Amino acid sequence: MDIVFASKHEARHVDWMRALQQALPEMRVHNWQQGTASCGAKLAVVWNPPEDLFIHEPGIEVAFNMGAGVDALFKLPGRPANLQIVRVEDAGMAVQMAEYVVHYLVRAARSFDQYAVQQHVGSWARLPDIDRSAWSVGVLGAGIMGARVASAVAALDYPVAVWSRRGHELPGIEVYAGRDRLPEFLARSRVLVNVLPLTPETQGILRRDTLSQLLPDAYLINIARGGHLVEDDLLQLLADGRLCGAALDVFAEEPLPEGHPFWSHPKVSVTPHIAAASLLSETIAQITGKIRAYARGEALSGVVDPVLRY
Ligand code: NAP
Ligand code: GLV
Repeated sequence: MDIVFASKHEARHVDWMRALQQALPEMRVHNWQQGTASCGAKLAVVWNPPEDLFIHEPGIEVAFNMGAGVDALFKLPGRPANLQIVRVEDAGMAVQMAEYVVHYLVRAARSFDQYAVQQHVGSWARLPDIDRSAWSVGVLGAGIMGARVASAVAALDYPVAVWSRRGHELPGIEVYAGRDRLPEFLARSRVLVNVLPLTPETQGILRRDTLSQLLPDAYLINIARGGHLVEDDLLQLLADGRLCGAALDVFAEEPLPEGHPFWSHPKVSVTPHIAAASLLSETIAQITGKIRAYARGEALSGVVDPVLRY
């Protein structure tokens, strides 16, 4: 069986391809290369796929995505109509997402950024004690990432709610489901964490009219995709004092362009799309398990719904 390995991340390419080939000695893994003849593969292993992947390799039937989010695959021209997309499920990412959220939540709620500023000026001054009830957290998305994030935050005794399409029961967490309940969910949330997939339905969900419904002095943590956020709306809401800060890992354009206002904004923390890394050994082990299951004709988990796009 032939597999084409396609990723725009040149730096990581060699190690990942080597690991994939070592894990699948019975298969032939080809490096996707622009301008060379098609290898005729039916299977692809992709991350941040090159734009002309499907133009170059029109015979691909199944794409195994080395990350959780599959939005990039849906944007590619020439995507075969019956393409099956299979995504990585967790593989060590959910705990990283939880760490990211806990880090920025605790920094804000415990005034750690202000203490850092005070240290620089030699100020020994006690800020007000935490009132945990004033830091209600709302998590958009209750899937693999959202459930882990919400549980980690709940374990620290912050009030937590999740919002998703269908509603998922999670111990100790308030549950909201569907568009109709979004206003109620936003109105009880001060810290809004986004872990939704980027789809036509969720594009631009973090915009003026939704973010304005949060509790006063709200804080935004976006660790899903840049396309969820209307960046100018956030800048305006920060300027108006409607939001007190934001931690952003993902952006409309990545890398975040030089001179973008987020780089130097005193109320914005920027990280370069690292909230959760796909870890090599966990990811390759999971992907090879899925490829072997496919080769045996077994049902796969992590299959993306082509209509819902996640
Ligand atoms: P998942 O398991 O598929 O969960 C998606 C969740 O979003 C589900 O709870 C789903 O609701 C909900 N949802 C989807 N569309 C919705 C809509 N229109 N309205 C309400 N809820 C909706 O995905 P995941 O593994 O948790 O990953 C989520 C996203 O995190 C990925 O797509 C990716 O963009 C992002 N991510 C980012 C990083 C990073 O480093 N920054 C790393 C990993 C993942 P139902 O459960 O009701 O279907
Ligand atoms: C990373 O952003 C992922 O979707 O896995």
